[in-house]
Formats: sequence, structure tokens, C-alpha cells
Amino acid sequence: MHSLLSTAPQAASRAQELRLPNAHDIYDTLGAPANAAMARATARNYLQQQLQAAEALPNVLPERPEDLLNWSRSSAEQVGVQYQAYLAERKNGAPRRFFMSKAHALYFLRAAAPTKLVDGSWLYSALQQWQHQRFRALIQIYLEELGDGVEEKNHVVLYQKLLASHGCDDWEELDDAYFVQGAIQLSLAHDNGNFLPEIIGFNLGYEQLPLHLLITAYELNELGIDPYYFTLHVTVDNGSTGHARKATDAVLQLMPRFGDSAAFYRRVRNGFRLNDLGAGTMDIIAGFDLQQELVRILCEKSVAGKNMHSDYCRIGGKSINDWLGDKAQVPALLEKLTSTGWIQRGAPVEDSRFWRLIQSERAEMFGVFSPYEQQVLRDWIESPLDDTGIAAPRIMSHRAAMRAIDNLSEGQPRTTHGTRGVFRRHMGLQQTQEPTFDADLRELEHKVAQQGSKGSAMDILIPLMSPANHHSAAGLMATRLYRQLLA
Ligand SMILES: [Fe+2]
Repeated sequence: MHSLLSTAPQAASRAQELRLPNAHDIYDTLGAPANAAMARATARNYLQQQLQAAEALPNVLPERPEDLLNWSRSSAEQVGVQYQAYLAERKNGAPRRFFMSKAHALYFLRAAAPTKLVDGSWLYSALQQWQHQRFRALIQIYLEELGDGVEEKNHVVLYQKLLASHGCDDWEELDDAYFVQGAIQLSLAHDNGNFLPEIIGFNLGYEQLPLHLLITAYELNELGIDPYYFTLHVTVDNGSTGHARKATDAVLQLMPRFGDSAAFYRRVRNGFRLNDLGAGTMDIIAGFDLQQELVRILCEKSVAGKNMHSDYCRIGGKSINDWLGDKAQVPALLEKLTSTGWIQRGAPVEDSRFWRLIQSERAEMFGVFSPYEQQVLRDWIESPLDDTGIAAPRIMSHRAAMRAIDNLSEGQPRTTHGTRGVFRRHMGLQQTQEPTFDADLRELEHKVAQQGSKGSAMDILIPLMSPANHHSAAGLMATRLYRQLLA
């Protein structure tokens, strides 16, 4: 969860300069690879190009690997001090620092989706090294990203649920810059032993606790959005026993004893800088424009909506079908909806006739807008226009924020039960309390139990724990089995 320095447009122009391939294509290809050899070649080419781009970025790691632990501790200390200053600022009445509205926060969740949905993937190749103690730190981090095979703790599952609960799961159309981090992480996942120093360095960067993670969690909670995915990372990234510590240990444990350790560490440092390519948390937050986002949403709706209205539906003398027939007219349509009184800017949404078409009993457009899209429309309508005609950011009142938090805590309690045993026979492993009735899972369990060696059992389990599979029922079970065999 490293803070990222570059901006999306900068990343895009750098990509053009270097003629980098389309990150979204790489992301899709490596997310569900059809051919392992081709995936490895794609990953290698992409990484080589990205590492070349990373070389131009500032180097913040200490010169000597022996100083990493102190560096990590003092960075965390600094983040703690900055967070306390933020909290004091808020207590004294300062507005939220990141999210001007709930729509802004949901926009962030959606734009971060390509990265969050491959969380941990850069460490996948470490699973092959289960026989080597010096890889344990990396393997443990990967297993924890996968929730140790417990669905409620699997980071990708948690993020999928978060997106779905707010209707933010239509992220496939995002700009290419938002896929760069995910494409890098998936490329590292498909490494075949060529990029170990870079994987260690990238991991070191990703697992440091950044200030933006703390503020994001705090402000999401304030806006009534479950911050669990983010608070979970605050605790797992801690520097004393958590991922930040394990990531530092991994560098020291995997440094070559007899080879060229200086060259190895140079590559670790460059791998670290891969974290700063593409659009990061701060770029996404800064890139939000409420009006632009509403226009984007309406443009997307216009594809299906341009022939769905009767000729009686007219705004400003023009049929809705005509308005929607040309995407360039969407901003003018919004102006017209406001000037003709269909939308009352700066007033509660319920006062707008247009809103009642979307959200009311027997609403004519019920179901057309997802919860996220409705939130964007709601925030846009309720933002008052100032004298210059620019919408003022709508900051949630303290009372509204408290209500949102109350609503959140009234939700279902989160289950935090531990891993269940999966073997019922062989290998002397524990009994399961709740036998699974899924034929696939029974088959997997049976197949693994029949293997004559740990190595052949691992060969069955590891592919199921890939970034594409680990969050499926079989992937979760494979993770639990792998973990038991590793112990
Ligand atoms: Fe994670």
C-alpha cells in the first residue's frame, strides 16, 4: 500500500514515449492466461519496459540493505505523527481531506478496482519455493493476502463484495492508466525466476503503511462505507510483526551470500520504484470531477437509452431520444433539466422531478441507475451552484456522518472464524466440522490425499492459488491445504 507519486496523465505520456503496450490488454491476458509460456513471455516484456520507466523515478530506499529495518520503522513513525496531526485537524473542524462526498469515495473504490482485485498477486511465484525456509516470509504474506483460504478474510473477495455492495463493479471501461499497477503485479506473478530481486523490492514498497491508507479508512467510515478492507491493511501492514516487517526480512533472507549482492540490491531498489508507476491512490482521488463523472455515466446510459423513450418525453422542445442520440449534448441536457425545473440544484433530491423518475414508487426509470450512479446524481443535484455557476463541494454534516456510522454498525456482524480443517483422512490432519457437499471440492480433497508425496500434492494446489483462481471455492480450499502442508 505504498503512496504513489506519478499522475495518470504523466504515466500515460511516459507510456507513449516508451511505446508501452496497452496495460488493460496485459491485465486481461495475464489475469486469465490461456497459455503459460506465452503468459511468461508477455510478463517478461512488459516488466522490462516498466523497469526502464521506473529507473527515471526517485530512489527513496537506504543505500545499504542493513538499514532497511530502521528506515521502515522511521517511515511508519512519521506516518503515525502525520495521522495524529490529521485527526487533530479534523477534531478542530477541518473538512475531509480526501473525499468531498460519498460519490467521490465510491469513485475512488471503482477506479482502484483493477489494482485491488489482484491484491497480493506479485508474490504468486514464491509458492513454488515451499521447500526453502528463506522464502517463508514471502509465502506467508501471499497466504495472508488470500485470507489463509478463509473466504471472509480473502482480500480479493472482500474487495469484490465492497464493489458489489455499492454497484461499483463496472470498472472494465476505466482508462488505461488505472490498469498499469495491476498489469505490473500480474506480470510479477508470472515470473519464472528472472525477477526475484524486483519482486522483493516491489513487495517491500507495497507493504509499507502509508498515510493515505489511514485517512482513506477514516473517511470511508465517516461516509457510511465499510472501511474493513482498508483497516485490515492497517493492521496487516504493521512494522513489528506484520507485512512491512516480513517484507524487510525477505530482502535480507534472500540476498545472495556469495553472488553480487550489490547488483541484487540495485534491482531490489528498482523493483521498489515499480510501485510509483500508473495511477495511484492520490492520483485517483485528485482526478475526481463530479460533473464530469455524471456526464460519463449519462453518456454510457445514452447508448441503450437513445431509442427507449417515446416522442412525448421532451425537454426544452427536443425529444429525449434526440438529446441522447449525440453524447456531446449531455452537458447541455443537464443544463436544460436544471433550467426547466426538472432538477433543483442545491435542494434535497426528493424535490427534483427527475430524481423521482429514478427513485420513487413506480418510478419510470427504476433500476436504470446503479447505487453508485445514483449517488453521483444525488451529490450533483444537491451540490449548490455558487455565484460563478460552479458546484460547491457538499460536505456531509457531523450529524449525517454520525448517522452513517450508526447505520454501518447496525449491519451484519463480520464473521471472523478461523480456518477449518479440510482433510478427513490420510496425512493425519484434523477433522472437518462442516463437511462440504460440493463435488468439485470433494474431488480435489480426494486427489490431494491420494498423492504419494508433498511435492506432487503442491503441484496440484499451486495452480489453483493463482491470481485468477485463489478466490474461487477450489482456490480457497487449495490455499487451506497448502498452508497445512507447509506447516
Ligand atoms: Fe491485501
